[in-house]
Amino acid sequence: MKAGLYISCLALLLLVNINNGLHAADKLSKQEEKKISSLISKMSLEEKVSLLHGNSKFYVAAVPRLGIPELALSDGPHGVRAEISRDSWNYAGRTDDSSTYFPTGTALAASWNPNLARLRGEVLGEEARFRGKDILLGPGVNIIRSPLCGRNFEYMSEDPYLTAQMTTAYIRGLQSRDVAACVKHYLANNQETDRGTVDVYMSDRALHEIYLPAYKAAVQEAGTYSIMTAYNKFRGIWCAEHPYLLDSLMRRDLGFDGIFVSDWNGTHSTLASAKAGLDLEMGTDKPYNDYYYAQSLIDAVRKGELPESLIDQKVAGVLRLMMKLKIFDSAGRFEGSMNTPEHQQATYLSAAESIVLLKNENNILPLDPSQIKSLAVIGDNATRKHSFGGQSSEIKALYEVTPLEGLKNRAGAQFDIRFAQGYQKSHRPSDRPDWELINQAAALAAQCDAAVVMAGLNHDYDTESRDKPDMALPYGQLELIRAVFNANPKTIVVIIAGSAVDMAGFNYRVPGLLWAWYNGMEGGNALADVLLGKVNPSGKMPFSLPVCLDQSNAHALGEFPGRDQKVNYFDDIFVGYRWFDTYDIAPLYPFGHGLSYTRFEYSELRVDKDEWSMDEKLRLSMILSNTGRCDGAEVVQLYVSDPESELPRPQKELKAFQKVLLKAGESRELVFELHLGSLAYYNDIKKEWLLEPGRIKCLLGSSSRDIRQEINIRVK
Ligand code: BGC
Repeated sequence: MKAGLYISCLALLLLVNINNGLHAADKLSKQEEKKISSLISKMSLEEKVSLLHGNSKFYVAAVPRLGIPELALSDGPHGVRAEISRDSWNYAGRTDDSSTYFPTGTALAASWNPNLARLRGEVLGEEARFRGKDILLGPGVNIIRSPLCGRNFEYMSEDPYLTAQMTTAYIRGLQSRDVAACVKHYLANNQETDRGTVDVYMSDRALHEIYLPAYKAAVQEAGTYSIMTAYNKFRGIWCAEHPYLLDSLMRRDLGFDGIFVSDWNGTHSTLASAKAGLDLEMGTDKPYNDYYYAQSLIDAVRKGELPESLIDQKVAGVLRLMMKLKIFDSAGRFEGSMNTPEHQQATYLSAAESIVLLKNENNILPLDPSQIKSLAVIGDNATRKHSFGGQSSEIKALYEVTPLEGLKNRAGAQFDIRFAQGYQKSHRPSDRPDWELINQAAALAAQCDAAVVMAGLNHDYDTESRDKPDMALPYGQLELIRAVFNANPKTIVVIIAGSAVDMAGFNYRVPGLLWAWYNGMEGGNALADVLLGKVNPSGKMPFSLPVCLDQSNAHALGEFPGRDQKVNYFDDIFVGYRWFDTYDIAPLYPFGHGLSYTRFEYSELRVDKDEWSMDEKLRLSMILSNTGRCDGAEVVQLYVSDPESELPRPQKELKAFQKVLLKAGESRELVFELHLGSLAYYNDIKKEWLLEPGRIKCLLGSSSRDIRQEINIRVK
């Protein structure tokens, strides 16, 4: 490392003291329950039913005579969406609805910092309140099963534990501001192709181990007030009318006491939905009175097809949610604020911690101003803003700092920064290089001391409603990167995307590679700070980066996006690194990978004893040392391996992690405590979570494939 320069490298790690307990309003008092019963007893059937369906795109009717106000919903998940017209999908054209734009889901997960998820929840709650919203439609927690899913950027990870950790922190933050979370999309909306019709089949084991944990944690650990049902079918039945998913599993087994909200235009029936447990119908593509939960619901009760008590239960659910949000106690309710400097700072912190340093040969990064005077910044993503894209999650951002602006802001005085377009966003499909732009870019790179190519995707690719056609970098970017590298070997590639792209064609050439996401309104500043070494990167990939698409679980088995409106998850529990590691397939970059400008050493892994029983808490300790020259944060990942289980388990599974900020030269003891029960797997023959007696391997690593310390324990 070049001495001196990096002493000031700063790793950002938000160490706020968060209260992880459930929100005080989680259980209603007897008095509040009484008020709910009394309100219901005063309502006509028509009034009750009016609370169970939208009366406009994002609102539910008020019952003014009983003091029940309208319920206001808004997208989510990485900002409060601009106001939509009541009766059409057009924006309302307001001038007061520009808002704070956070890094999207995969970026949040890449920070591996639940405190940042909590802070985001608080900020979104404050902005939602300021805008008069009651329910924010997020977080999006579907598992990243395929690199091609168009909505991967909104979701978080291929790993259920990491997803659950970020989800619960987000929900606690949001609901602490008297805004309900609506965790989505329950269940298995893991692709956009045919999302409204596709029928998903998976084993009980995959359900319990991979696809359910984030929802379960949202309910049991964070007390989410609502859940959005998915568009697709699950085992032959629409999710919005699924008796097992809604009633048996979520309400009875997991104890969910909030409301089920349909996805917009995702309801298909009156009776089946009502019986299965759907509470609120939104977004159906019909006049409001023709919704399944409008006149038809009234008729069904009048004809004796449904008991009125079932309607009362659903109304009670909606009123309970209002009560928890203190809607009937306006004086006690959080007031909120909008676009404050603190909110913008929160997006900066999140962006700075999410950037992943994938490769750093010869310490090409951070850029050294004593050697680099001129910098070629190349690529459409250098100047592109991404906030207003991707469909329902799009944000009318108050501002968005692009990478080029960020570099000019932070280093305009230090470097001669020059821009070349390199490639042009055009209409899909687009695989033709623009040689004129490439030649201009290469010529510029040849004249400069170093080049940074801002490559990747945009929301023409990472978007709701359709999946990506393949993993290729579009617009001839591969040709561009090669040409720039040939012109200047000091070439750094920055990938701006929310899901995996094919990098095998250039990865082996370029010395520096960063992943910078759709990184929110301060993304350009955060990226510049990482490039310049003012921020020491500390993000880790929340999904595996395959060499090519065929390597990854769903595609290797030919089970994406399914056939004849049906998709079988034959990859089962072997999703992401669980697949790569178990079948010994080497990805380009593994789950959990991310480098730093400093070095970390792992030592002295210890357990108090060798044998543990199921009712105990396993306690592991180790020493983490920062042996490099600058401060930095490391994400220490604890995986377990259970080679002696009755049913085969993945080669390793993430069970805990800690993000730790250490000063240069500092060492610290880290302690991991976890219930033995959390190491269990779901045995779907016996239908229970099990951990058989035998040997378990505990692996501590800097990524899923960079295991630094391991130790065996025995389970009694
Ligand atoms: C999306 C949801 C979103 C809803 C409302 C649907 O198309 O799947 O995630 O919250 O629209 O915009």
